[in-house]
Amino acid sequence: MQDEVGLFEAIYSMRAMRRLKPDPVPDDLIRKIIDAGLRAPTGGDVQNWRFIVVKDPAIKQKIQAVYKRAFDVVITRYRSNPPPPGKTEAQKQRMLKAVEYLTDHFHEAPVLIVCCLVNDAARSMGLAKMSGASIYPSAQNMLLAARALGLGSVLTTRHLLYEQEVKEALGLPENAETFAILPIGWPIGKFGAVSREPVEKVTFFNKWGQPLPS
Ligand SMILES: Cc1cc2nc3c(=O)[nH]c(=O)nc-3n(C[C@H](O)[C@H](O)[C@H](O)COP(=O)(O)O)c2cc1C
Repeated sequence: MQDEVGLFEAIYSMRAMRRLKPDPVPDDLIRKIIDAGLRAPTGGDVQNWRFIVVKDPAIKQKIQAVYKRAFDVVITRYRSNPPPPGKTEAQKQRMLKAVEYLTDHFHEAPVLIVCCLVNDAARSMGLAKMSGASIYPSAQNMLLAARALGLGSVLTTRHLLYEQEVKEALGLPENAETFAILPIGWPIGKFGAVSREPVEKVTFFNKWGQPLPS
């Protein structure tokens, strides 16, 4: 295992790592990742998050079957979409290959961390955006912690197309729901620069449409 990396290095090199080795990941590292996730905020500090560490091959297989079925639904749209902002068609094709790889190998990730909320008050008020805001910061913390430890992962939400089946496979109670699944493992490829459009392309000053002074 490599030495931990600094925060900015982690942020700038935390590419979506979809090709993972099936080799085991020590439990103490998974605990450390979740503990970092718990440093994230929740609305009202209610901390109603729950995380399920899934290693059971049969359960992982069930989740992969759902994930694969959902892939078949979304892939046609992905293929016909233009490349992401600032990316070439070749980069898009490479990403699609990685997406397909993860889809076929989802269950081979040594650990899945399923991010859940229980008794989510925002949802009962019909505020879905507010719900997500209480769980995705923890997911991002965990992705960065994994990166800092040399572990690969990617935020995935595709199972939500058939969430009920995943909830059943994991034995979730009625008052709990899932928001993301993080497959975690030692990366097959290398971490690399995360490329995005420049700040000034996506940031306004004071009002929508006004450019940021340089
Ligand atoms: C809300 C959300 C949902 C995502 N769902 C999936 C997913 O289901 N499967 C997947 O492979 N990647 C998923 N991703 C990862 C994105 O596709 C990835 O962050 C994007 O391609 C940028 O990749 P990069 O960080 O390597 O540049 C998701 C990301 C977000 C923010």
